Amino acid sequence: MTAFNQTVLLTGGAGYIGSHTFMALSDAGFTPVILDDFSNSHPAVLDRLAHLTGQRVLCERGSVIDTGFVAQVIRRHQCVAVIHFAGFKAVGESVQQPLKYYHNNVGGLVSVLQAMQTAGCQSIVFSSSATVYGDPDNVPITEQCPCAPESPYAHTKLMCEDILTSLRASDPAWRVGILRYFNPVGAHPSGLIGEDPDGIPNNLMPYVTQVAVGRRDKLNVFGNDYPTPDGTGIRDYLHVTDLAEGHVAAVRALLARHDSFTVNLGTGEGTSVLGVLHAFERASGRPIPFEFAPRRAGDVAEYFADVSLAKTLLNWRALRTIDDMCRDSWHWQQSNPDGYRNMAPHDLNVLQTNSLLSNHDGSRQPAASA
Ligand code: NAD
Ligand code: UD1
Repeated sequence: MTAFNQTVLLTGGAGYIGSHTFMALSDAGFTPVILDDFSNSHPAVLDRLAHLTGQRVLCERGSVIDTGFVAQVIRRHQCVAVIHFAGFKAVGESVQQPLKYYHNNVGGLVSVLQAMQTAGCQSIVFSSSATVYGDPDNVPITEQCPCAPESPYAHTKLMCEDILTSLRASDPAWRVGILRYFNPVGAHPSGLIGEDPDGIPNNLMPYVTQVAVGRRDKLNVFGNDYPTPDGTGIRDYLHVTDLAEGHVAAVRALLARHDSFTVNLGTGEGTSVLGVLHAFERASGRPIPFEFAPRRAGDVAEYFADVSLAKTLLNWRALRTIDDMCRDSWHWQQSNPDGYRNMAPHDLNVLQTNSLLSNHDGSRQPAASA
């Protein structure tokens, strides 16, 4: 099957994982279209994508909550599949503001599915998370492990999975790929796109990169008394480019076979907090000051994926190492100390500004001026 001219809609495609998936789909010969409201991303990413692909980037600005708008976009671009990234993802915030999360994450998915039904597109890949497993009894975690979500955010992911399963049961014409990501980190090797958290990062890798670049004094290592070899928490870190390629494999599998699946995307290997810190020191050539701090509420000691199902079903496996992840995160952070904000004017001149943003009212403007 050829991907030529097949258009795939990426809701939340201007975000961290969506922008890397845009690149992977484009490299694989698909035509990706972004739909994003920029609630957690910056339009400057569109110019970076245009520069990297050498092509005009198609982006529709609006919310997935607006069913009519999403249906219009699917029809206008004749999308054969949707990858639904759009949503909120901060676990702590979901505890403080659960309705915001249920509305955008669960309401957003229902709206996208209704729009797809109206527009006659029935293939969807959904961004789920290993957080649905909660505190697992055993590692590695297989897809059969019981789900036990612990935060409102995790509940939204499991509710979305259930909605997709019910839909598929009601009409087998639906093709549903649920991807449970482990810990995506790293950046595109060009250093032009990467993770750009707003405010103080919650997650380990962006925090480490900000310490390395001098934006923060030191890393607080949350807990050194876990039952792990060095006492710090172990996670399955996964290069975002590997993850992006996993989405291409998932879209291909959905379009080629009349099939649905739920798979883990990880490397299958765990790395401790100190392991990440030392890998980052190797990559950057800089010492990372750190201090042990109390355990963070809600953290588990250790988890990593069983990745055999992804290999069997999608013919996909992660290829990049923790050293690659640290090198690319460092390259991104060094080239963009403030992320997409405060881009130096010379950056804008270097980039081709040929991406176009369509606003909800149909008007168009260059992304750089948005
Ligand atoms: P991100 O915040 O960088 O990207 C999400 C994008 O969705 C942003 O560009 C944001 O502006 C957009 N968005 C949010 N609500 C929207 C709405 N109502 N309408 C249109 N656009 C909207 O996050 P990410 O890290 O790229 O994550 C993508 C998806 O993967 C999310 O669903 C997240 O829950 C899931 N996920 C992420 C991780 C991770 O570690 N990053 C891990 C597991 C699962
Ligand atoms: C968190 C989210 C999870 C989400 C994932 C990827 C929680 C409880 N879970 O997982 O839902 O899918 O991010 O976005 O928030 N650490 C430090 N110092 C720091 C930051 C982190 O020591 O400043 C440690 C943590 O204690 C943990 C490890 O680093 O052991 C990884 O943390 P993080 O990157 O936040 O990911 P998770 O906790 O696995």
